[in-house]
Amino acid sequence: IRTIGVLTSGGDAPGMNAAIRAVVRTALGNELKVRGIRRGYSGLLNEDIIDMTARDVSDTIQRGGTILQTARCQEMCTEEGQQRAAAICKKYEIDGLIVIGGDGSFKGARALSNLGVNTIGIPGTIDLDIACTEYTIGFDTAVNTAMEAIDKVRDTSTSHERCSIVEVMGRDAGYLALWCGIANGAERILLPEEHDYNVDKIIEDIRLNRKRGKKHYIIINAEGVGNSVQIAKTIEEATGMETRATILGHMQRGGSPTAKDRVYASIMGAKAVDLLVEGKTNRVVGYKHGEYVDFDIDEALNMEKGIPQYQYDIAKELAL
Ligand code: F6P
Repeated sequence: IRTIGVLTSGGDAPGMNAAIRAVVRTALGNELKVRGIRRGYSGLLNEDIIDMTARDVSDTIQRGGTILQTARCQEMCTEEGQQRAAAICKKYEIDGLIVIGGDGSFKGARALSNLGVNTIGIPGTIDLDIACTEYTIGFDTAVNTAMEAIDKVRDTSTSHERCSIVEVMGRDAGYLALWCGIANGAERILLPEEHDYNVDKIIEDIRLNRKRGKKHYIIINAEGVGNSVQIAKTIEEATGMETRATILGHMQRGGSPTAKDRVYASIMGAKAVDLLVEGKTNRVVGYKHGEYVDFDIDEALNMEKGIPQYQYDIAKELAL
């Protein structure tokens, strides 16, 4: 191989820049040419492609977001779009394409690999919802950002002896909610994986909690459950306890990446290039049982994972 391409796709995540930097510098170290594709698959389809040097990634490891920009691209979900994207990769002589993003982005990568473009996926999403890996770029920063915000909500909640329901991101997955629930010592965590929450039980628990002398009641609600404002209203009406809903939103996706996100992203970025140099094709990089690993892209997309029940049970036990 002589030339590689790199793009970020889907929702941005802190640490993506560290991954891009590692891709660029590892590739240049192996005497490969690097083409940066701006704005994800949309940029690929618009041929928004730039040559990258080691200096283009200077001073980026500490920056949130993605210097290559990103997008969610509907056209890449169509066969026509995929064929056009593959033809553009060939036109720019891209022998290996590194895609940093989530499951949706990997589906685009799989389509390209089926059309003869060698692709390597790097898991980048704050949601942690990629089955083949225990770590995704951005999750650690997002948890820490949300945790700090929830600590602040907790201060005012305690002062006013209120119930607070704080909604965190995660799309259909509850990992961010579960981690914040434990890290913030929440009284209750609502996860989409639970399928159903029982508001009557929460109300009963709030009453019990007050008898136990607790000054607040913090509920971490996952975006996949949603309805935070309505849940707050129901709780306030039933318990008489003032209840406020806070939806943290996109602040969870921003900010300077934590050390963990910078280091893991750097290693994953370098590994993706190493795989291409070794002649491997169509892989997804992951982190499992303390090691950096890689899987066939098809195999990776067919894997499943769920909320760790033990962790969830402990979160409940500690809410006493
Ligand atoms: O996948 C990351 C994520 O932040 C999800 O947690 C959330 O559901 C979604 O992206 C929001 O997407 P957008 O920024 O396009 O509104």
